[in-house]
Amino acid sequence: MHIGVVGAGYVGLITSLAFAHMENHVICMDNDIKKINQLNKGVPTIFEEDLESLLHECLDNKNIVFTNDLQETVNQSDILFIAVGTPPNDDGGVDMTQINEVICQLSKFIHDYKIIINKSTVPVGTQKYIKELLVQKGVSEKNFDVVSNPEFLREGKAIFDFLHGDKIVIGSDSQKLKEILEKLYAPFHIEMIFTTPETAELIKYASNAFLSTKISFINEIANLCNKVGADIDTISYALGLDKRISPQFLKAGIGFGGSCFPKDTKALIKIAKTHGCDLKIVKSAVAVNEDQRILPIHILLDHYGDIKGKTISVLGLTFKANTDDIRESPSLYIIHELIKRGVTVQTYDPIASDEVKKIFPHIKYCSNVYDSLTNSICAIICTDWQEFYNLNLTLLKEKMQVPMIIDGRNIFKLEKVKENRIIYYSVGNGSLK
Ligand code: UGA
Repeated sequence: MHIGVVGAGYVGLITSLAFAHMENHVICMDNDIKKINQLNKGVPTIFEEDLESLLHECLDNKNIVFTNDLQETVNQSDILFIAVGTPPNDDGGVDMTQINEVICQLSKFIHDYKIIINKSTVPVGTQKYIKELLVQKGVSEKNFDVVSNPEFLREGKAIFDFLHGDKIVIGSDSQKLKEILEKLYAPFHIEMIFTTPETAELIKYASNAFLSTKISFINEIANLCNKVGADIDTISYALGLDKRISPQFLKAGIGFGGSCFPKDTKALIKIAKTHGCDLKIVKSAVAVNEDQRILPIHILLDHYGDIKGKTISVLGLTFKANTDDIRESPSLYIIHELIKRGVTVQTYDPIASDEVKKIFPHIKYCSNVYDSLTNSICAIICTDWQEFYNLNLTLLKEKMQVPMIIDGRNIFKLEKVKENRIIYYSVGNGSLK
């Protein structure tokens, strides 16, 4: 099939490559000409597992082309995916500027039938809104259908998730589309759910809100473990054995970050509010997370009283391992609190994006983990990078002024730190003071 994708960001790029991999002809469009040139040369624009090889495969097979020409994209495609950013507004709502712009631009070029599929995370009612906007801009109703098709891709595992996902959700009010979309997605062999646009749009938010709630729930139990001397990893394992609960997303720590969970939970609360619904559970999940991500600060203050003028190491800046993305990372909130308290911050992350240097230009960025520990009175582990599991604790002790770890991702076992006589705090797996 001939597929156009508007937006070569994280979702647009993965969508383009996955369909190109399945032998479709894909034209992926973005306004950013630098990005387009880079992708046409086979150079990845985001950090993502298997991206480079897939990009090369699709370019070599001539199944994909990147362009900044929207008219050409529309002309060459029967199906047009929209995958542009829907960042949060200041009030927690969804900023629809990019969606509006794309629809207005598209309306100039649609002269024969196109299927418009929205992959961006958008408020409930957007499919209907897009239809109305296109008509308002003069596009004949017989020349398009609009479909909601949310994505469920994890950063770092996005290609795997696209090719081997649990479900494909299609929200449409047009019957004739079903056959075409079944054919489009047939090579993926993934269960398809055909439903109304409103249901599809809400599945996306409900999914992210549920996973966020699971994390906040286990974090609350972990905080209780800290008080009563119970062990959260064993509790998570035991809960996970119950198939009704499932073992996923029960890892306690300093909370969820990233470009999706914090944004989508808040947006869902806002959407519900506009419809007169108070989502108490989702609100609590957000509130628990906001406290959880600065838990290390409370631990530090309880332990030391005053930390002004001290040096503290922040290990890991990204919101999770295997991504360079720092958006809404708990580490950012922790660093902010440390700076506020007059602490000298030394950090290390294997690949965090340079964006962090714009946010905190005056902290120290070290090129290896041991340098970041020099003269420090505490190492706060913020990201579950594999290399932190292999930290040499003898070397750590030599480097630090006070050998103390706050393990925000529960990387270490208590016995291991005990052997090394390190002051240690975990999130619900015990402590050594
Ligand atoms: C998330 C969802 O998992 C995807 O299904 C969804 O498509 C995506 O958002 C999106 O809406 O685009 P992602 O943000 O890449 O994907 O990250 P996750 O792997 O879900 O992790 C989110 C955060 O939760 C991370 O900070 C992670 O450290 C934390 N987390 C995750 C925990 O603290 N405990 C867990 O057990 C699992």
